[in-house]
Amino acid sequence: MPQQVVGKGEVSGEEEDYSLKRFASHPFYTAMNRRLVKLCELQPWWRVVDLGCGIGAVTWLLVEEVCGDGGQVIAIEPLGEALEEARRSLAHLPKVAVRFLKRRGEDLMHCASVRSMDGVLFCNAIHLVPDKSLVLQNIHAVLRPGGVFAFNSAFFEGAQSADTFPFYTAWIRHALHIFKDDYPDIRRKKEGKAQARILLTPEEYRQLLEDEGFELEYLELCPVELPLEGFEDISGYELFARGALPGVPLAVAVDCLKRGVAEAFRDLNLTSVTRNWLQVVAVKA
Ligand SMILES: C[S@@+](CC[C@H](N)C(=O)[O-])C[C@H]1O[C@@H](n2cnc3c(N)ncnc32)[C@H](O)[C@@H]1O
Repeated sequence: MPQQVVGKGEVSGEEEDYSLKRFASHPFYTAMNRRLVKLCELQPWWRVVDLGCGIGAVTWLLVEEVCGDGGQVIAIEPLGEALEEARRSLAHLPKVAVRFLKRRGEDLMHCASVRSMDGVLFCNAIHLVPDKSLVLQNIHAVLRPGGVFAFNSAFFEGAQSADTFPFYTAWIRHALHIFKDDYPDIRRKKEGKAQARILLTPEEYRQLLEDEGFELEYLELCPVELPLEGFEDISGYELFARGALPGVPLAVAVDCLKRGVAEAFRDLNLTSVTRNWLQVVAVKA
């Protein structure tokens, strides 16, 4: 059923949660992030930044590794609401172990308490950043020589293999049909191309790291089987929905994407779709 839209894309009834919470609770998501964390070989006494920490889905994985003997995790996030959720969900941890800061990666080097860090992790977020060089320069500035920088992303050129293209085409086709048929009174606003859709190849990331003074230690593409629920839950995440259907009111975009993906799975008789996760570890040269 379409959600009830009142006025400009507002949905009546209960307030929706458009955070990453549901998607982040899938075991494949934790597995991909834990894999990257393990590849970093963090030491218990290290000071590590969880950049773009969102609601804290990676923060607690970092706390498991560091925060032993003098270790510290600094969770940094530009969106106040997400940062508050991270703070709430990690409230049971000792206060000395985790600190929370509201900042963008672009401003990291201006933060007096973030200096000579042993590691910076930037999980599932680099694809959202318009000026990746600027963020990498900031990360470089706050790391000690030899410090580790790691990131992962399922949004890069190569995340979708050619045999899954028909699925993505069917998904967007269904979503746009639902939008046209069920929301005839809503006009799509003209917007610039969403950043999440300007995708880099692994080779472009490798070059970028080298240009900004990092040495690549490890780069892999991990195939992950995503079930329908995974696609439905990413459809309900604000930053994804706005990128996938730019110019469409958020509640409407979420509804069209969720129902569209279910129809695409049904059409193509799928039980899952393979998606590659890019996992990268580098060190400050
Ligand atoms: C998909 S969430 C990932 C959250 C968490 N790192 C994880 O892996 O579950 C992406 C996060 O990156 C944040 N983000 C976007 N642009 C950023 C920037 N320029 N600097 C720092 N964080 C940013 C967003 O606000 C969002 O919370």
